[in-house]
Amino acid sequence: MIELSTQRLVLRPFVMDDVDALHALWGDREVRRYLFSGEVPAMERVVGIVEDSVRSFDSQGYGFFSVRLSAAPEELIGFTGFRPFEDGDEVELLFAIAPPHWGRGYATEATREALRFGFAECGLSRVVATTDTPNQRSVQVLQRLGLFFDQRRERHGLDTVYFAMTVEEFGATQAVGRAGEARNGRVGVA
Ligand SMILES: CC(C)(COP(=O)(O)OP(=O)(O)OC[C@H]1O[C@@H](n2cnc3c(N)ncnc32)[C@H](O)[C@@H]1OP(=O)(O)O)[C@@H](O)C(=O)NCCC(=O)NCCS
Repeated sequence: MIELSTQRLVLRPFVMDDVDALHALWGDREVRRYLFSGEVPAMERVVGIVEDSVRSFDSQGYGFFSVRLSAAPEELIGFTGFRPFEDGDEVELLFAIAPPHWGRGYATEATREALRFGFAECGLSRVVATTDTPNQRSVQVLQRLGLFFDQRRERHGLDTVYFAMTVEEFGATQAVGRAGEARNGRVGVA
């Protein structure tokens, strides 16, 4: 099974055993406000999202990861990853962290690793992310990760900002972060 790790976190593809913890995460008032338009998602919907992710890892190589602290991996504290974007052939990036763990850089750390995986190991060429315009915490994560503002328009009746990143743009963020390696020609995600 795929398992990704960062300095402080472990990322594991969703499994059915995650359903209860995801229901609790996505049902949290602060999380569902932006991810589910304020509604507590029905358990069947959570099961469907997990099933879709499992199928997507099988067929496409990508999907959603649970996010856990390396020091306490039994507790799911968030999620990050990808799903197909609407009807097109683009891929959408989504993430959330449980509120008690906000403000410590976990969303950025987990999602940076998910992007590396998507671009370097799944062959993604472009990733799209949308967020409600008032969700500035999310906008800040996207900007910190190096995604670029694409457009602002109404989506599902909500004022929405679109961000995107190509594999080349992601490679540039890696090269800036690891200039020494870049000089040695070891940075590259193609
Ligand atoms: C958006 C969301 C994921 C942000 O979570 P987060 O873990 O707080 O975000 P980050 O990883 O970027 O953390 C950044 C904060 O941690 C601080 N921080 C502390 N230690 C840090 C470290 N070691 N590294 C980086 N940042 C650190 C930063 O200074 C920053 O603080 P600030 O918000 O006061 O500027 C979270 O608010 C959330 O789950 N919202 C609901 C769901 C949602 O909106 N999802 C996005 C739509 S797809």
